[in-house]
Amino acid sequence: MRLSRVVGPALPRALRRTTAGVAALAAAGLLATVAPSALAAPSAPAPALAAPDLPLANVKAHLSQFQSIASANGGNRAHGRPGYKASIDYVKGKLDAAGFTTTVQQFTSGGATGYNLIADWPGGDTTKTLMAGAHLDSVSSGPGVNDNGSGSAGVLETALAVSRAQLKPAKHLRFAWWGAEELGMVGSRHYVNNLPSTERSKVSGYLNFDMIGSPNPGYFVYDDDPTIEKTFKDYYAGLNVPTEIETDGDGRSDHAPFKNVGIPVGGLFSGAERAKSSAQAQKWGGTAGQAFDRCYHSSCDTTSNVNDTALDRNSDAIAHAVWTLATDTPVPPGDVYENTTDVAIPDNGAAVTSTVDVTGRTGNAPAALKVDVDIRHTWRGDVVVDLLAPDGTAYRLKNSSGNDSADNVIASYTVNASAETANGAWKLRVQDVASQDTGYINSWKLTF
Ligand code: TRP
Ligand code: ZN
Ligand code: CA
Repeated sequence: MRLSRVVGPALPRALRRTTAGVAALAAAGLLATVAPSALAAPSAPAPALAAPDLPLANVKAHLSQFQSIASANGGNRAHGRPGYKASIDYVKGKLDAAGFTTTVQQFTSGGATGYNLIADWPGGDTTKTLMAGAHLDSVSSGPGVNDNGSGSAGVLETALAVSRAQLKPAKHLRFAWWGAEELGMVGSRHYVNNLPSTERSKVSGYLNFDMIGSPNPGYFVYDDDPTIEKTFKDYYAGLNVPTEIETDGDGRSDHAPFKNVGIPVGGLFSGAERAKSSAQAQKWGGTAGQAFDRCYHSSCDTTSNVNDTALDRNSDAIAHAVWTLATDTPVPPGDVYENTTDVAIPDNGAAVTSTVDVTGRTGNAPAALKVDVDIRHTWRGDVVVDLLAPDGTAYRLKNSSGNDSADNVIASYTVNASAETANGAWKLRVQDVASQDTGYINSWKLTF
């Protein structure tokens, strides 16, 4: 909490926050010269239909049910054990009541019968089917509430939200709960192997959720299909939550069989047995040097082993992705040029720059050049941001505004750069024009 702050140059109050004020500042020579155009417009392509905010209480109620099922069945929900079938019956009951067409697919593994549950939402273009799934089995040593009651509950609550909204998506929607993942993705592989190739080619994407409520959470996005990945990353950028690429073994969950036959995949993961680094603890909170999930594959993976914030965000992210990917026609990302090296921004000091080298293009930059900026700062009103074309032409992205005390500039701008040669060294120029609060350029990128 701060008691007072210094606002840059002394100015009549009325000039501080208005566009007229900006013009006056420029006229008075107080701002760097910028391109003649007005401020670049932050791009805000509102999706046709916004996904609902899933009630965390509903997601947690499903976890309580999985816990009770395990407790009543020898402490687990593992393949071949009664707790698994009871889990299938619970999820199926909810989906049937909500109007889904459900199918239980049986298979055999290790001499025991296994079950996948498939739930189709009637309607939508079946030649473009979007699937979302989670494994429903636990290991035999515990109730599997985070692994993977969490993903199962998030996908279930998303499906129930589709029903509550009576969604009429462009794409056909299919949800899945897999058996025997813990024995090596047996259920999901069985499903994919038994899907005729004509049916396979109709699956436009598969979204996987395995461990999304880890108690010491990270926010990992699978690095697979670029459109799916971008959909999740955009969601987290909107929450101001940094993400990392999931690198903990690409083939470790039920997306692998889909990926292996060429179906675009993506997903979320909040971490398992690996330890959170201190850099990760700094950006996400939690405990450095401790596993993301200390109860991974053990008896303590109970309802106490869940971080509510991670569970809530990741469940909402599932709904966001299903709504966005099934109701919009997402534009695939273009060629991205990015600089992720941090650059400190001196307090009330000189402008700093970060460079992105664009090579291999012909002609001019696009009329709608997308500039994504991620600046971490404790008072973003201090910060002035320009994009500099290779020839030095400045495009103002953001002015200072003394009263804007919020943190960080994490924004997407669209610049008409059609007068600029595409190839060359583009720079993001950032200046902090008021004392006290400071920050750094975290990353920025250009999408051509
Ligand atoms: N159920 C997975 C497993 O036991 C959990 C897991 C670990 C995971 N690492 C992952 C899931 C990476 C997705 C991505 O192996
Ligand atoms: Zn798992
Ligand atoms: Ca400052």
